[in-house]
Amino acid sequence: MSALADFQNEIYLKGLGDVLPELPTDLTGLEGLAERRLSAQAFGYVAGSAGSEATARANRAAFDRWRIVPRMLRDVAERDLSVRVLGTAMPAPVLLAPIGVQSILHPDGELAVARAAQAAGVPMVLSTASSYAMEDVAEANGDGARWYQLYWPKDRDLAVSFLERAKAAGYTALVVTLDTFTLAWRPRDLDQAYLPFLRGIGVANYFSDPVFQQAVGGPVTDANRDTALLHWIANFGNPSLTWEDLAFLREHWDGPIALKGIQHPDDARRAVHAGMDAVIVSNHGGRQVDGAVASLDALPAVADAVGNQISVLFDSGVRTGADVVKALALGAQAVLVARPYAYGLALGGEAGVRHVLRCILAELELTMTLSGLTRPDELSLDTLVRA
Ligand code: GLV
Repeated sequence: MSALADFQNEIYLKGLGDVLPELPTDLTGLEGLAERRLSAQAFGYVAGSAGSEATARANRAAFDRWRIVPRMLRDVAERDLSVRVLGTAMPAPVLLAPIGVQSILHPDGELAVARAAQAAGVPMVLSTASSYAMEDVAEANGDGARWYQLYWPKDRDLAVSFLERAKAAGYTALVVTLDTFTLAWRPRDLDQAYLPFLRGIGVANYFSDPVFQQAVGGPVTDANRDTALLHWIANFGNPSLTWEDLAFLREHWDGPIALKGIQHPDDARRAVHAGMDAVIVSNHGGRQVDGAVASLDALPAVADAVGNQISVLFDSGVRTGADVVKALALGAQAVLVARPYAYGLALGGEAGVRHVLRCILAELELTMTLSGLTRPDELSLDTLVRA
């Protein structure tokens, strides 16, 4: 029996003692608040997308073009939103998407997110570009569920080292981001000439890595810092990778592997063929290809193509519990939430992230219940109509 919606009563009961929620409960309002709180550089980095940001707008607009059709008198007293995805049990089909360089949002960065995720029971996906080393984040996450996201570096020994460290630190599934072997044309960052990595933020996993250190002449200090940053630039991404290279990952990672950045059903079929366990339909929140298809519009064809063979997950543009319902109805088995928790982190650290997670889970359960749905596997295209 799910109790995620109890957050609603908790808020109203606290209100009897004149205690209000620390942040707005409409998560679409967090971006504006975060803009006031953050430096222009930090806000631009997180809120910004590629080019004219048409893809980011399309991501949101695609959600608006689908409408939920509530059904009545279906006995929704008992709800169970829990699912198991890639071997990980979760209270609802919701995970925290990988977001790098979180210390630009709050000094505790990924450590705060790891604690909030553990408290809410929501799995987190840690970015290779995190501002704290994966071992420190794992410690903050305790017995929480965690997956590791790989930016596949050119240096194969470094890639293997990342995978071995992630395994040892209790990350159980591997998420390989395919759409960011180089960063896109991002005017908000370009106009401020701001790239956090070049300022030594978001490189903790590299600088703490024995293979990386060996390549730059030892632990990174002021003396070899420039060498280390140049080595990071040279190694961050590998544009020459092909589908054949996935065998290398299979060889070095014995848990589930999800390919993130899939937008075409043929690519999803190739993922199946390559022995992958999941695809994540994502356009990186509109941060990579301007003018690209909305991720939600790409989802149904991918789910149709491979949904009965491997897991199909979704991200890009998710802001509310109703958005999660729509993505699940269009074929996703689970949904990754990103910018809302980044803004929660910026506005309230660990408590801010916890607030965002509790809001989205409560809203998800209430939206499902009020639509006559008690379990994620009841959602299908029948749940929706075109607006
Ligand atoms: C890196 O993943 C970014 O989107 O900035």
